[in-house]
Amino acid sequence: MKIKQVCIAASFATAMMLSITGFAGGESEGTLALTDDSSAMVGMSPRERVASTPKGELKNPYTDNEEMISAGKDRYFGNSCNGCHGGGAGGGMCPPISNEVFVYGSDDDTLFRLVTLGSDDLQKAGYYRKGMEGVVGPMPPYGDIIKTDDELWKIIAWLRTQYKGDIKRRDW
Ligand code: HEC
Repeated sequence: MKIKQVCIAASFATAMMLSITGFAGGESEGTLALTDDSSAMVGMSPRERVASTPKGELKNPYTDNEEMISAGKDRYFGNSCNGCHGGGAGGGMCPPISNEVFVYGSDDDTLFRLVTLGSDDLQKAGYYRKGMEGVVGPMPPYGDIIKTDDELWKIIAWLRTQYKGDIKRRDW
């Protein structure tokens, strides 16, 4: 109960922090991609990517790609995900991402949408909590904080390497 309250407090604190600093700081990894107008599909924000892709069709192009995994680890820390989920994604104040329990589902499409929209808007989009972690609280939306879909896929590629559950449950 105590832990749960801490996690929710952290969520509120982050929401405030993001609303103050969200657009001022941040890395602009997407700059190069954005100048490449030969492909309109490159350099979209995660939010735009979610809005333009039918449910269930988002797929990580970087899974098991060593170079992208290493960049993703950097961005996981760069976006302070570790503040809530811990340095190895094993949970801290908030739920672990490395175990077999996935609150809304473990596939790429669901994780990408959750991090982009946050728990509240994900639920409005028709998703519900089917897995129960020890800690229940809202995941803040990162759809405009993380600059490009590319950056988010790198983070997810790294998260996959932290998975400690049964390999047979892997659906990504
Ligand atoms: C303020 C704390 C906080 C921060 C910061 C945060 N998260 Fe979360 N995250 C949560 C909470 C709480 C949940 C559980 C959501 C729910 O139950 O609706 C969650 C859930 C998740 C899940 C699903 C875990 C599961 O077991 O299904 C993933 C993946 C995730 N977060 C990734 C990230 C990434 C990537 C970042 C950084 C860009 C991040 N989180 C930053 C609090 C946070």
